[in-house]
Amino acid sequence: MSDPSEKGKIPGPDSAVELSRRDFLRNTGATVAATTVAPAVLGAAGARAQDAPPATGTDIQLTVNGVSHRLTVQDHWTLVELLRDHLQLTGTKIGCNRSECGACTVLVDGQPMYSCSQLAVWMDGRQVTTVEGLVQDGQLSPLQQAFVDHNGAQCGFCTPGQLMTATALLNSNPSPDAAAVKSALVGNICRCSNYNAIVEAVVDAGRRNGGAA
Ligand code: FES
Ligand code: FES
Repeated sequence: MSDPSEKGKIPGPDSAVELSRRDFLRNTGATVAATTVAPAVLGAAGARAQDAPPATGTDIQLTVNGVSHRLTVQDHWTLVELLRDHLQLTGTKIGCNRSECGACTVLVDGQPMYSCSQLAVWMDGRQVTTVEGLVQDGQLSPLQQAFVDHNGAQCGFCTPGQLMTATALLNSNPSPDAAAVKSALVGNICRCSNYNAIVEAVVDAGRRNGGAA
């Protein structure tokens, strides 16, 4: 007869403890019962969340592509959510949503930043530029035109972020060589691996425009 204190232990090759079929089914049944109960517990928690008072917002003012906006933002909104879902500027893309791919890059006060990892509430008083802001008077920027000419976009999903980081580079270094471009774009992943064309486009944009992006 087995020791009751040994029940539930997994017997080793030399173990004298026997896990009977009845024990196994009893334990499995307990697991199933626990799994069945879990949604009820979660349901109660969900009901409590619904009873919680609505989140309050914060009033901010920011300038996006030269246009001033006064908005009330929820404290959990990210900048990319604000841009895409509330200002309808969907040129900025969400790839990883956790600071790894660079698809969401925008300029904040001229500096490239991952908009998925910036809270909207932090943008109070800031100047934001998105890919939509690169077009001037209906004309592509020289950098955008160079991307077209060098086939810098394949699927194009990374392209807005690549353009914003490259724009910041060209603003600080009007004539970057390939090494400088590669270094600047290290935080922008291209899943199509179109890196050679992207680097050529940025170098050529600096060359053909006398430096300005
Ligand atoms: S979506 Fe922001 S870094 Fe990938
Ligand atoms: S062009 Fe497809 S991810 Fe870069």
